[in-house]
Amino acid sequence: MRLLLSLQSPPGAIQEAVEVALDAGYQHFNCAYFDQSKAEIGEAFKRKMREGRLKRDELCVVSKLWNSFHAPQDVKPAFLKSLTMLKLDYLDLYLMHSPMGFPNINGVLMPQKDSLLLQSDVDYVDTWRAMEKLVDEGLVKSMGVSNFNVSQLEKLLSVCRIKPAANQVELHPYLTQPELVEYCKSKGIVLIAYSPFGCPALPCHGNPSGENSPVPLLENPTVKEIAQKHGKTSAQVLIRFHIQRGIATIPKSITPARILENTEVYDFHLTHTEIQTLEGLDCNTRFIKWNLLGMETHKHFPFSDK
Ligand SMILES: NC(=O)c1ccc[n+]([C@@H]2O[C@H](COP(=O)([O-])OP(=O)(O)OC[C@H]3O[C@@H](n4cnc5c(N)ncnc54)[C@H](OP(=O)(O)O)[C@@H]3O)[C@@H](O)[C@H]2O)c1
Repeated sequence: MRLLLSLQSPPGAIQEAVEVALDAGYQHFNCAYFDQSKAEIGEAFKRKMREGRLKRDELCVVSKLWNSFHAPQDVKPAFLKSLTMLKLDYLDLYLMHSPMGFPNINGVLMPQKDSLLLQSDVDYVDTWRAMEKLVDEGLVKSMGVSNFNVSQLEKLLSVCRIKPAANQVELHPYLTQPELVEYCKSKGIVLIAYSPFGCPALPCHGNPSGENSPVPLLENPTVKEIAQKHGKTSAQVLIRFHIQRGIATIPKSITPARILENTEVYDFHLTHTEIQTLEGLDCNTRFIKWNLLGMETHKHFPFSDK
């Protein structure tokens, strides 16, 4: 079970959502460096453990190293900050958020819109080597990446001491990335699909790239028709789509009823034809905009090769 938590939630809502999710049997919790909700997530874990209703080894807690901390000397301090906020003494999975390093200017997360300033000259291989030391020190169980393309994975695999266990990328029927999926499977790298519902909370949702953009995923008539046939919701079909493709997914919700709804995905099967129909909706639409702030000029921008 996966749960992603919103950055824009009112105080207390995240702790409540995590407690609802823990009670519902969720085990995998995905966070990011800049996610201010980590303190509330940590508080929910601590409370359930104090009450004797949760053991640490039943959890899979994931966080990410943000782009501003790619310099080897910045890796451990950034990691420890996340760990402390989560009130834990190790993480199950630690991901490099993207292959693109930003300069660390006093810990500022997003550099100014100036493509020259956006690039740090640290190579992600050196960042990875610093992350490997966290495993050696027992602070992290497994390491992975996020938003890496095939050639970046190839480069990492050719030099790394510890192989990336996972690659967290945007995946849904509008962006199925068959070559990346095939490659990761062939190398035993687990794919984790983010934005499985096409990120409906984004202002650009449903209009990500202008006039000819597709309808919001949750409202797509094909998705709705398949859902209706199975007596399920569009959200449940979109989660099931990943499960049957052998891909982990991290639907995000802070709404208790939806947190429960998103677990009810193990009592139906999509047919092979339905999976193919959903894959046929692919229009190479990326909802998460990594090409803002001139990022597409970064030498490690991952999305120009498919
Ligand atoms: N690795 C990366 O580079 C990367 C990049 C971008 C984003 N992310 C992660 O993605 C997260 C954002 O997730 P997302 O918004 O892209 O994810 P999403 O899972 O595609 O969509 C989440 C949205 O769907 C709604 N929702 C959840 N369950 C639903 C249901 N059953 N029916 C209808 N609506 C439902 C949620 O609303 P409520 O919460 O109001 O219920 C929320 O607005 C961030 O927190 C971030 O960690 C990762």
